[in-house]
Amino acid sequence: MSQRGKFISLEGGEGAGKSTQIAPLVAWLGERGISTKVTREPGGSPGAEEIRTLLVTGDPSRWSPVTEALLLYAARRDHVDRTIEPALAAGSWVLCDRFADSSVAYQGFAYGLGDHWVHALHESVLGSFWPDATLILDVPVELGLARAKTRHGDEDRYERMDRSFHERLREGYRAIAAHAPQRCTLIDASRDAEAVQSDMRAALVGRFPELGR
Ligand SMILES: Nc1ncnc2c1ncn2[C@@H]1O[C@H](COP(=O)(O)OP(=O)(O)OP(=O)(O)O)[C@@H](O)[C@H]1O
Ligand SMILES: [Mg+2]
Repeated sequence: MSQRGKFISLEGGEGAGKSTQIAPLVAWLGERGISTKVTREPGGSPGAEEIRTLLVTGDPSRWSPVTEALLLYAARRDHVDRTIEPALAAGSWVLCDRFADSSVAYQGFAYGLGDHWVHALHESVLGSFWPDATLILDVPVELGLARAKTRHGDEDRYERMDRSFHERLREGYRAIAAHAPQRCTLIDASRDAEAVQSDMRAALVGRFPELGR
């Protein structure tokens, strides 16, 4: 039986660079003989991708914060059951573009439900299942939103939240990193993509020494 893989999540606000950084990370892990499963939230399984559309398109106020958190956790449970857990069990490392910290940051901090409320929901739905490591990409709100604008498509519901929402979001992520240093590394993502990638790799080597060999 293969050894269980590691579960790594990438977090950060809109336009921080999460999606950009995944491919070079996969290539680097591959050079170390590690097979990876790349996935994302909201979504990552057929059912959860359907729920994604409800969350990332349309009017910013279409859901109450509680309903939105429940939709996210319905999607997350399906994603864990059908995509993440089977990949980890098969020995792949899972790289997830957003996971539960997004709910803590967006619904807990930015919408104001509170991080304790989201943690209680998480515990009910997923028990103690959390990533082995989380890299949080931190950028000033203005820079992240300017970057996000360069993309196309209609998945912009969160981008259209007001400025103070994004400020609370950034502070939320910084609080998450401060409260869970055993799992989370805060990365200065305001620099060029290569410098950010280099810090991400260094953080992973620090957490998983087998990567440094
Ligand atoms: N370090 C960087 N410097 C300059 N531009 C960047 C950097 N990282 C990413 N970008 C560009 O910024 C835009 C947003 O990046 P990306 O889509 O990776 O962000 P994201 O964190 O995935 O955002 P979202 O949460 O909205 O999905 C892209 O056009 C990308 O090419
Ligand atoms: Mg993205």
